[in-house]
Amino acid sequence: MLNRVEEIRKSALAACAQAASVKELEQARVKFLGKKGELTLLLRSTGQLPPEERPKFGRLVNELRDELEAAWNQREEQLFREEEERRLQAETIDVTLPGRTIARGSVHPITRIIEETKAIFMYMGYEVVEGPEVEWDYYNFEALNIPPDHPARDMQDTFFITEELLLRSQTSPVQVRVMEKRQPPIRILAPGKVYRADSDITHSPMFHQIEGLVVDRGITFADLKGTLELFARRMFGPDIKIRLRPSYFPFTEPSAEVDVSCIICRGAGCRVCKDTGWLEILGSGMVDPRVLKGVGYDPQEVSGFAFGMGVERIAMLKYGVNDIRLFFENDVRFLAQFGSQGGLLC
Ligand code: DAH
Repeated sequence: MLNRVEEIRKSALAACAQAASVKELEQARVKFLGKKGELTLLLRSTGQLPPEERPKFGRLVNELRDELEAAWNQREEQLFREEEERRLQAETIDVTLPGRTIARGSVHPITRIIEETKAIFMYMGYEVVEGPEVEWDYYNFEALNIPPDHPARDMQDTFFITEELLLRSQTSPVQVRVMEKRQPPIRILAPGKVYRADSDITHSPMFHQIEGLVVDRGITFADLKGTLELFARRMFGPDIKIRLRPSYFPFTEPSAEVDVSCIICRGAGCRVCKDTGWLEILGSGMVDPRVLKGVGYDPQEVSGFAFGMGVERIAMLKYGVNDIRLFFENDVRFLAQFGSQGGLLC
């Protein structure tokens, strides 16, 4: 019997040492120390011994149980540690690997120019307003002093929907809509889409304009000039000069086209400014008394100035883009280049 105790001790300790995983160790524990395990069987055989030997045998078996339990605990701890180590090694993260970059969108260059322009004028106290793109002939032409058959209509190849309804060919109708509803003082900026049947590298059937209007008592041509000079400097740079050339628009009198000193060659003469040193950027003038009268204002009491600019033209000049169609093709290789460009938006 004593031999049997020693036999079990040896094979149990061997099984314990050989268990290669926590799972195997547990299986071996059940085999030796479990309810129906070897030690239990051994204790059951106590009855076969002469009575005087039984206490000693019982003590031996209990000592063996204590020894084996201690061995199992130790081995279990060791296996746990080993398994944990293996797991950590398998899951090691290489923190020196470069991270995955997130594709970041950017503001469309046209939106950017609109937002920058809005910021410049809002700083001067202008309110941003919008008007409909499907417009009445009345607002697009008639109220702006362009009666039917007026030759000025030829300047703009309009998309007509019906005799009286059209896609607005300019943002100027927003001037009239605002003046109809409000009394001076008025200081508004109206950006938006406009439409003309025209398409080549500098013209698109849909493009954007930004209209400005100021009406109050005592507004003069000097206010117009000062305002546009400030705008040009903020948009193109502090050393930019402006030049006003006499022009004609039916809704302004006098009218002026506004040039900025060439932002490419700074006035020295280049291909972009066609060696003139100047770039035309917008149309402007003092609001024609007939337009003021048409909305019920008294031209003896109030006066105003207005201006209108093409957003694509400004974007083309500012970013050196030579084909307007690039703005509308949605080619990310083109658009991504405007991602981190400076400006008021950043
Ligand atoms: N609406 C004109 C155009 O599309 C631009 C313009 C010129 C607007 C003079 C104005 C202005 O407000 O005063 O060509």
